[in-house]
Amino acid sequence: MRYKIAPSILSAKREILQKEVKEIEPFVELLHVDIMDGKFVPPTTFRPDEIKAVRTKLPKDVHLMVERPLTDGFIDDYIDAGASSITVHVEAKDSVKECLAYLKMKKIGTAVSINPHTPLEKLLPFLDEADMVLIMSVNPGYAAQSFIPEVLGKVKELRKLKPKLDIEIDGGISKDTIKQAKDAGANVFVAGNAIFNKPDRKAAIKELREALK
Ligand code: DX5
Ligand code: ZN
Repeated sequence: MRYKIAPSILSAKREILQKEVKEIEPFVELLHVDIMDGKFVPPTTFRPDEIKAVRTKLPKDVHLMVERPLTDGFIDDYIDAGASSITVHVEAKDSVKECLAYLKMKKIGTAVSINPHTPLEKLLPFLDEADMVLIMSVNPGYAAQSFIPEVLGKVKELRKLKPKLDIEIDGGISKDTIKQAKDAGANVFVAGNAIFNKPDRKAAIKELREALK
């Protein structure tokens, strides 16, 4: 199982986003793009044109924290902005089945996410259509929050069910929390604060990889 580091640009400097991405690009596997609509969670983040403008060889792992990914056009907007994979929340108001079917028809990677207090059972109906599952280890909406270790039980259970599936964990991942996430069975690690809020990003990413060992 390959370990993948996915820096979250929510913690990058928005006004120099291209420069921020170029700096970390050589050292990571994915770019985690957090999109919020102000309804599913209070904040709003990037516009599609800002993400489209980011030129990178990294796959854009778009995390939609929005109420209506399909009917409000977010899925189309971020396919156009170059998403390689799009994550929808089971807690969203649109049909997850419809969102995943649409993404498959558009040949975009599919991912489903659950919040810390949502039981794993809510994910099971979608597992066969998901290329990846995102287990939130913070309540969505903000960067630099504390890791919620109670979610690791869900990671463990999911890994037993799906030995080959990409399991992404998102929220409060640092050199102090990444190993327990890996030991529970996660293999894709989102990190915003632990990378972009450090002066030496390359060293911060190296530190995360060291902590995985
Ligand atoms: C929170 C986002 C996360 C967040 C992770 O709603 O989905 O991706 O940016 O940031 P850190 O690593 O700072 O917790
Ligand atoms: Zn995220």
